[in-house]
Amino acid sequence: EVWNPNGKYRVISTKPMPGTRWIRLLTDQDCRVEICTQKKTILSVEDILSLIGDKCDGVIGQLTEDWGEVLFSALSRAGGKAFSNMAVGYNNVDVNAATKYGVAVGNTPGVLTETTAELAASLSLAAARRIVEADEFMRAGLYDGWLPHLFVGNLLKGQTVGVIGAGRIGSAYARMMVEGFKMNLIYYDLYQATRLEKFVTAYGEFLKSNGEQPVTWKRASSMQEVLREADVISLHPILDKTTYHLINKDSLAIMKKEAILVNCSRGPVIDEVALVEHLKENPMFRVGLDVFEDEPYMKPGLADMKNAVVVPHIASASKWTREGMATLAALNVLGKIKGYPVWSNPNQ
Ligand code: DGY
Repeated sequence: EVWNPNGKYRVISTKPMPGTRWIRLLTDQDCRVEICTQKKTILSVEDILSLIGDKCDGVIGQLTEDWGEVLFSALSRAGGKAFSNMAVGYNNVDVNAATKYGVAVGNTPGVLTETTAELAASLSLAAARRIVEADEFMRAGLYDGWLPHLFVGNLLKGQTVGVIGAGRIGSAYARMMVEGFKMNLIYYDLYQATRLEKFVTAYGEFLKSNGEQPVTWKRASSMQEVLREADVISLHPILDKTTYHLINKDSLAIMKKEAILVNCSRGPVIDEVALVEHLKENPMFRVGLDVFEDEPYMKPGLADMKNAVVVPHIASASKWTREGMATLAALNVLGKIKGYPVWSNPNQ
């Protein structure tokens, strides 16, 4: 699909993206926009090489693509100056290679914070209240009357929510769980989440002044402390060498037997084979997963686990957010091409 065929700058989007604002932004600024409409969900390096061709000023790509040395050198040879991932995470992008070939890298933080946090909260609730299991039970026609022990789950109020990685998304999730469900907070991050701490303190005081049990917060000195103490744990780190398999056999072993673990960050943060074993051995332990180690696949056994809620990497999938991500990705590429500031640029 081609927009503004006579535009001076050739910009490629490796996928159709939501909305039309992003296209207008580019075409209004003399860009010819080419959108790849190949049916294949995940494009290979070869597919993208053929899209880049001999002349390409910028590319908007997706987190499923491997943006390394090969693609950045090709983009640079084609005269390309900019690449933007349509994602906040950029573990699929070799930023050093991009820098070496003079290509600016963009990502799309901010617009997806609340949407992603809302999915983490949804997965926490779905796991706590066994919503998917109960839904399957209803649809299978198994409900034959109210029973005192039917799908008994966990009450969140008064329990402790643990957040690993209290950046934008982790903090938004923590606020939702603290305020929405009156949970206490324990978090682990290299940086102090001062605003989050202030929020919980103020909310605790508000509850107290209403004669209610106040909520509390604690900054843990290690991730293990969070794993040991929290009832619901949500993972929000970036994926790099230091966070690969952060959750493994040993870390699972120190968590409470009835804990809930939620992951909306990146799949390889969890050793999924160890997780499946843990789910089998601990039926009261529950997980809510948006991301998987070998996407789009799940490790053997995971799909059979009743104590797992699994969704296909949809944490940022609200209309407003996805249109915002597309717009930011376009702005990043446009900024570099036209010499405006790049909206969000991890390599500069
Ligand atoms: C991201 O932005 O990194 C998400 O995984 C997709 O929204």
